[in-house]
Amino acid sequence: MTIAAILAGGAGSRMGSVNMPKQYLRLGSRPILVHTVEKFFVHPKVEHVVVLVPSSWLGFTQDILNEHLPNHPKTPAGVPGAPGDHNVALIAGGERRNDTLRCALDYVKAHFGDEEDHILLTHDAVRPFVTHRIISENILAAQKHGACDTVIPASDTIVRSDDGQFISLIPPRGSMYQGQTPQTFTCNKLRLLMDSLLPEEEAVLTDACKIYALRGEPVALVPGEVHNIKITYPFDLKVAHAMLGLEEPPTGESL
Ligand code: CTP
Repeated sequence: MTIAAILAGGAGSRMGSVNMPKQYLRLGSRPILVHTVEKFFVHPKVEHVVVLVPSSWLGFTQDILNEHLPNHPKTPAGVPGAPGDHNVALIAGGERRNDTLRCALDYVKAHFGDEEDHILLTHDAVRPFVTHRIISENILAAQKHGACDTVIPASDTIVRSDDGQFISLIPPRGSMYQGQTPQTFTCNKLRLLMDSLLPEEEAVLTDACKIYALRGEPVALVPGEVHNIKITYPFDLKVAHAMLGLEEPPTGESL
């Protein structure tokens, strides 16, 4: 099966003082999260979508999914329908992004087993501009290579500083990329690698692709898009509205 995990378990602290995590802020007439979920929901190769949110936002999220994606079968939270049905399950994420990823993996095993090596697309809920092509190419690359990351060539020169004061290294720009999402994996290998992490590694390996790289496992590159932005700061939300030709609602306004 091909399953998309929409990672929406964060607090959005860099977004500043808004009354809700940034994934619920409005982009046009709908919450950012709904835009993102819909991209996977309508993709014909994605057979199931699981949305992972902070536990205290489960009820609220169910309400907005029901309101804005009314055509999805109304299965109880966390109970998937038959494979091939486009339904959306909703479960709690974890404290750190990797914990949320682990919740997604556990969910897949509990509901779909591990006899078949499922494909898991993992995507930041706050990247609503992901495209059909990016999703398709992620699925193909993960089927072929076992893991892939969505990237764009670095447009600025990347400067490394180990002390934050002086340059340590300027790597050649031609081999530098900026990571986006989706990051897509075969579930059994991802589970194996995550299980192999020592506690001290777990603290620093905040990116699943980095786990593969450090263990010498291949991760294929899928071309992303400059416009597949992550909404991190208030400025990014302004950019997102401008991209859609929309007026931004007054600061902090959500639904
Ligand atoms: N995420 C998650 N679970 C966490 C932390 C983050 O699912 N425990 C998700 C976020 O909801 C977001 C994505 O990972 O969709 C990318 O993370 P980031 O932009 O860092 O989001 P936040 O952690 O919410 O932001 P901040 O660091 O500003 O608090």
